[in-house]
Amino acid sequence: MKPPLRIALAGLGTVGGGVVQALANPELSERAGRKLEIAAVSARDRSRDRGFDISKFAWSDDATALLKSEADVIVELIGGEDGIALDVVEGALKAGKHVVTGNKALLAKHGARLAALAEEKGVALKWEAAVAGGIPIVKALRESLIAYGVDSVHGILNGTCNYILTQMEATGRSFHDVLKEAQALGYAEADPELDVGGGDTAHKLVLLASLAFGTVPNQTHISVEGIKEITPEDIQFAREFGYRIKLLGIARRTAKGIDQRVRPAMVKTGTPLAHVDTVFNAVLAKAGAAGRYFFEGRGAGREPTTQSVVSDLVDIARGNLGAGFGWPAASLKPLQPSDPGAAMSAYYLRFEVLDVPGVLAEIARHLSESQVSIESMIQRGRSPGEPVSIVMITHETSQASVERALKVIAGSDKVRARPCMIPMEAA
Ligand SMILES: NC(=O)c1ccc[n+]([C@@H]2O[C@H](COP(=O)([O-])OP(=O)(O)OC[C@H]3O[C@@H](n4cnc5c(N)ncnc54)[C@H](OP(=O)(O)O)[C@@H]3O)[C@@H](O)[C@H]2O)c1
Repeated sequence: MKPPLRIALAGLGTVGGGVVQALANPELSERAGRKLEIAAVSARDRSRDRGFDISKFAWSDDATALLKSEADVIVELIGGEDGIALDVVEGALKAGKHVVTGNKALLAKHGARLAALAEEKGVALKWEAAVAGGIPIVKALRESLIAYGVDSVHGILNGTCNYILTQMEATGRSFHDVLKEAQALGYAEADPELDVGGGDTAHKLVLLASLAFGTVPNQTHISVEGIKEITPEDIQFAREFGYRIKLLGIARRTAKGIDQRVRPAMVKTGTPLAHVDTVFNAVLAKAGAAGRYFFEGRGAGREPTTQSVVSDLVDIARGNLGAGFGWPAASLKPLQPSDPGAAMSAYYLRFEVLDVPGVLAEIARHLSESQVSIESMIQRGRSPGEPVSIVMITHETSQASVERALKVIAGSDKVRARPCMIPMEAA
């Protein structure tokens, strides 16, 4: 049998604690063909009750002390895009140690540089846990969906947002009400901005785009919109039109570059992404001539995320190192962004207007002047002189055309709030 793979864990929280417990299963070493042995651990508070015995492991409060240990692999499960997590990951690679991490924020910012460093040192940089928890999407894009390339990736990548949208639909309650409940249940952070503002989905999406297209992870050329503006009314209208609203991360190859976006979208009922509910995640990948592949599963939580970390560790134990982003670091290309305004889609538009004569004609005229044509329309109720909602579905049109029309319409004295536009996603 080969010598043991010595593992040092930086972080013993939700995921790190799960990894300690999972590695106690001797079957994993059997499968790996060598013993998976925890050599040292680090966290902030040694006295915390973690539900397992840490006395048998070498301990340090300073995670960078692990770099001097005998470990072959450092598992970084602290989090944060810089600071101690970066010191640990970068220091480990420089010291010629393999790295496993679940840290999407760090990889989205420093991933290409770290992958190049890992390659230079002949060690692995593995991060299955960083995107979509327990779903093996990193491995699929890095190793499996390669013969015909990948044309697009559509993902529901944030369980908090998906939970909130599912609950808003089920109960008719507002975004803020459901967010409060999600916080009480532990499904949303005390500071929820990174999740509900779309930033967490963006981190994960740029990593998937990098794997799919062989580009340097790029957080500059991505448009990001979260779910804070979605109302129960939008969700209800979506249902009437046969759609559900989901926060999607979309990365696709176009004739004029890569389009990366995070935004709420109308997804047609009956298609796979429409039926991913609560805290579940999913990814739909279109792999050229090989067709479409749909992955669904738990996107966070101790066991799903531990599963991904353990899978990376067993890969390393077996000698399956691979390139950090599935392409040699030197061949990762700068991302050529497409023009976001050129993206074509049908749109759901909602206007809150005063119920006065001529208002509909005025909206229709502005849309028509921007070459936006209307497929269908609903006006809810009648209350002369009071605000009412008018909803329109457009034919396929460019984002720039719709934005141009809405800018003019928003300036009308009959329009009471910023118009809402949501693309109808034909995933
Ligand atoms: N939780 C999930 O479902 C999930 C899913 C996918 C990816 N991830 C990623 O996995 C990583 C870990 O997440 P988590 O949920 O396990 O986090 P967590 O529960 O907050 O645990 C963080 C751990 O890091 C330790 N720590 C914090 N600052 C430290 C420092 N300066 N030096 C040494 N240790 C330090 C903490 O020590 P103490 O325990 O002593 O406080 C704790 O053990 C993050 O990058 C996260 O994005 C998490």
